[in-house]
Amino acid sequence: MATPQHIQSESRIGLAVRDEFPIFETATYLNTCSQGALSHRVREAVEGWLGGWDANGAEWDFWVERNEAFRSSIAGLLHARSDDVAVTTSVSQGVSALVSALPLEGERNRIVISEYEFPTVGQIAHAQELRGAEVVHVTPGDDGSIDAERFAEAIDERTALVCCTALSYRSGHRHDVRSIAEAAHAAGALVLADSYQACGAIELDTRSLGADAITGGTVKYLLGTAGLGFMWVRPELHETLVPTQTGWFADEDIFAMSIADYSPHASARRFDSGTPPVPALYAGVAGLSLVAETGVPAIEEHVLALGDRLLDGLAELGATVVTPRDSARRGPLVCVRSTDIAALVAALASERIVVSSREDKLRVALHFYNVDEDIDTLLAALARHRALLA
Ligand SMILES: Cc1ncc(COP(=O)(O)O)c(C=O)c1O
Repeated sequence: MATPQHIQSESRIGLAVRDEFPIFETATYLNTCSQGALSHRVREAVEGWLGGWDANGAEWDFWVERNEAFRSSIAGLLHARSDDVAVTTSVSQGVSALVSALPLEGERNRIVISEYEFPTVGQIAHAQELRGAEVVHVTPGDDGSIDAERFAEAIDERTALVCCTALSYRSGHRHDVRSIAEAAHAAGALVLADSYQACGAIELDTRSLGADAITGGTVKYLLGTAGLGFMWVRPELHETLVPTQTGWFADEDIFAMSIADYSPHASARRFDSGTPPVPALYAGVAGLSLVAETGVPAIEEHVLALGDRLLDGLAELGATVVTPRDSARRGPLVCVRSTDIAALVAALASERIVVSSREDKLRVALHFYNVDEDIDTLLAALARHRALLA
C-alpha cells in the first residue's frame, strides 16, 4: 500500500530535517529555549513578505489572511478551534489583556503564581496590586519541583487566577497543569499556563490540559521570530471575560472603524490587539508548518530520548542537574549547575557549541533538529571543562 504524503513527511526529524537549518553547518546549536534555528522555509517566507511589499505596496488582504492562517495553525497545534485562539504580539500582551478582564476586587482578588513563571507573568501579576490584587508565590520543594499539592495549599476561594507555566524556562521542570487546574477549579479560580518553553516540543492538548488560557510565542520551538504570540482561551469564558486592555483588531468588526463604542469580538479575538505583526506572521506560519509536518508527539519523543542521553552523560560526569530525571516531569530543556556560568558558556561558544544560561545554570535545549552527535559533542566539551560544572 502506498504511504500517504503526510506520513512520509513525518520522518523529517533529526538528520532528515537538518538541511533546512544552515546553522548546523557551523555550530552545535542547543539554544532553542532562547531562539529556534532559522530554516530556509522561514527565510523564504520573510523574503516573500519583502517581495510582496516591493511589488504591491500594502498587501492588506494577504496580511489579514496570514493572521488567520497563523490562528488556525495554532489551533491545530493545540487541538482547538481557531475561534478560541487570540493572535498576540507577545505573551505579555495576551496575559495583560486577560488579566485586565478580571475584576480583582472584593473577596476574590488573589493571583497565585509559581516561582518558575517567566518575569513578564510575575510582573503583570504584581502590576495588578495597583488595582487591589494580592499576589501569592508558590515556591519549589526541596527537590526543586512545584507539585500540584503545593499549588493547592496556596489556592482558596480568594484566588482569581493561578499562573502555572507549563515548563520552567530556568529549571526545565514541567508542571502538572491538569492537577493544578483541578485544584484551581474546585476553588472557582481560573488557570493560565504559559507554554512558551513547551509549545512545539511538548504535546499540549486544550481538551485535556485543563487550563483556561494557554499562551506562548513563536520565537523558540515554533521556529519563528519575535513579535508574535498566541493565547487560547476556553470558549465558555469568552463572554464573561471582557478585556479593558484592547485594540481595534479585537473589535467585533475591525472594518467598522468606529470610535463611538467598545464592542469586543465574541470569540477569543477579543484578546487580539492592534495591527498584526506582519513579518512575524510570515515567519510564524512557515515555522509552524515545519513543526506540524513532523508532529509534536514525534518531536516530544525525540527530545525526551535526547534528554535521556544527555542526563546519562551528565550523571557520568557527576554534574548537578536541576531538571528532573522522570521524563513525565521534563521536556526539551535540561539545566545543570555551573561554578562559573559565564566562563562555561564562553568556553562552549569558543568551540561553536551554542547554549545559554539562567542564574548559575547552563541551559541545554533540544529540538527535532538535534541528534545524538550534538549531545556527544556537548558532553565531550563538558568533560574537558569539568571544573566549571558544580
Ligand atoms: C516561559 C516564557 N514566557 C514568556 C516569554 C516571553 O514573553 P514575551 O512574548 O512577552 O516576550 C519567554 C521568553 O523567553 C518565556 O521563556
